[in-house]
Amino acid sequence: MNTIELRSDTFTRPTEAMRKAMYEAEVGDDVYGEDPTINALEEKTAELCGAEAALFVSSGTMGNLIPLTILGGRGKEVILHENAHILHHEVGGIAAVAGTVPIAAPGEKGILTPQTVAGCIKENDYDIAHTSLIAIENTHNFEGGTCWQKDDLAALAAFASSKGIPIHMDGARCFNACAATGMSLADVFSYVGSANLCLSKGLGAPVGSMIAGDRSLIEESRRWRKILGGGMRQAGVVAAAGLYALEHNRERLAEDHDHARELAECLNSSGWAEVDLSRVETNIVFFKTPGRDAKGVEAKLAEKGVMVIATAPEELRLVTSLEVNSGQIKEACRIIRDLDL
Ligand SMILES: Cc1ncc(COP(=O)(O)O)c(C=O)c1O
Repeated sequence: MNTIELRSDTFTRPTEAMRKAMYEAEVGDDVYGEDPTINALEEKTAELCGAEAALFVSSGTMGNLIPLTILGGRGKEVILHENAHILHHEVGGIAAVAGTVPIAAPGEKGILTPQTVAGCIKENDYDIAHTSLIAIENTHNFEGGTCWQKDDLAALAAFASSKGIPIHMDGARCFNACAATGMSLADVFSYVGSANLCLSKGLGAPVGSMIAGDRSLIEESRRWRKILGGGMRQAGVVAAAGLYALEHNRERLAEDHDHARELAECLNSSGWAEVDLSRVETNIVFFKTPGRDAKGVEAKLAEKGVMVIATAPEELRLVTSLEVNSGQIKEACRIIRDLDL
């Protein structure tokens, strides 16, 4: 049975063309700054962001952890959304390694407004852990792949700047946000001080994430990457996949978003699932199964080859990516419609 992989866009496997680019990559010792492919990937990312510099790191978790450590700082408070990936799915590194105190703020569809953030800000005083950083997530994974719109970014950025507080963006799926909102990466980046951008999600590379920021942040990030054991040598073979992904796989993300909507509409008319269609903005769909155990639904779908993940007792998540083509989406819809629960 051919499986239809909808558990995550992290399941994407490198295509033949990507593997060829990896095979042909020129490499050197990156700890000495001599891997030409990594250098090209870092330059390309900085150029796309309109940033001074960028750094190749091994994962999105590291791409968040390093800016949290440098810009957050031990004993300081970092404000982030209550459902943030950094807070719940990065093994507590924000506290364990960065040493910061995470302060969770509410926000409709993952968006932090100046009003909600204002209530969390702590000014510097002798007995107070003051606010050093605001971290946003774009797209917001556990709010349903929702995007930050330009006005929301502008409002938070103006507020943060009035308080002298930098913003870090967990942009693990920022390329999806750009495809959905029509904003360029440079436009999004102009509202934040640093960003983590994953190459290994919808873009389809097997490994890697980029940190973008100003030159001093990236220099300090390079030192922290080494402290964390993330200094790499001839990693141009994997950076080549990232470069290939940036050049060839950004445009097609809109296709994944169409697929997600097709599946969401099909689920909504299935009779056993409910989707809040207003949240389906990119490649992620959360669906509820009222009165039905999500683990049981996950197992039934898996029996038919449709792989999704239960996220709560009556809720599941699916994610579209280049791993699933239009024909498989049609097949998944047929299985969803005919599912005998
Ligand atoms: C929003 C978000 N941020 C960060 C990460 C971490 O990325 P990685 O798994 O590469 O460490 C993920 C992973 O799924 C994510 O969804």
